[in-house]
Amino acid sequence: MHYKLSCGIIVKTENAAKPETQGSKYLKSILANLTHVSTSFDYGCGKLRYVKTILQKTDTLAIVDSEVQISRFQKLRGTVTSIRNIIRGTNHIRVYNETEFRELDMKFQRGFCINVLSVIPVPAIRMKVLATIKSKLQRQGTCLFVVQYRNSDFTRMQSLSNTRLWRDGFLIDSLRNPSNPRQPFRCTPL
Ligand SMILES: C[S@@+](CC[C@H](N)C(=O)[O-])C[C@H]1O[C@@H](n2cnc3c(N)ncnc32)[C@H](O)[C@@H]1O
Repeated sequence: MHYKLSCGIIVKTENAAKPETQGSKYLKSILANLTHVSTSFDYGCGKLRYVKTILQKTDTLAIVDSEVQISRFQKLRGTVTSIRNIIRGTNHIRVYNETEFRELDMKFQRGFCINVLSVIPVPAIRMKVLATIKSKLQRQGTCLFVVQYRNSDFTRMQSLSNTRLWRDGFLIDSLRNPSNPRQPFRCTPL
């Protein structure tokens, strides 16, 4: 998803996604201990980093991201392909862009929203994402949110020359292109 900010910067959040090989062992151990459910979604699936692990605990999985992320050709699982192409060959995963997902007439038992809120540089859009997620959960449904909001790196990053404060977080101009934003919800040094 691209976010055009009023300061003129365009934040290309699809570039913030890490590959499958860089999954967090800690998070994977949490996912592996969940009970099995019938339906789940992974909102902001990125480069499918946690999809295989999530699949072990659900019968069907909806993966959601921007059309840019799911249609573009990129290196995934060692091959240059697109997420839409990979998913075409499976019958227990469905792929949706965020608009298709919002319009979907289905509710899920479990959702995941992993490292997504922290790359959205507009607080009002974060609230919309939360509302969409809530609307797609069954009455007893649950969602696991992962937001890295406290990290010694964040304190260090704030004082870098290529960092600028933005709303409730900050933007890092990586390679002169602020496509890898980090927005901890709390920037105060501990
Ligand atoms: C840091 S990546 C995390 C990807 C994956 N969850 C992971 O942990 O590897 C953030 C992802 O959120 C997606 N994203 C950003 N804004 C979004 C929105 N409003 N709706 C859906 N996905 C969004 C980006 O395209 C990107 O793939």
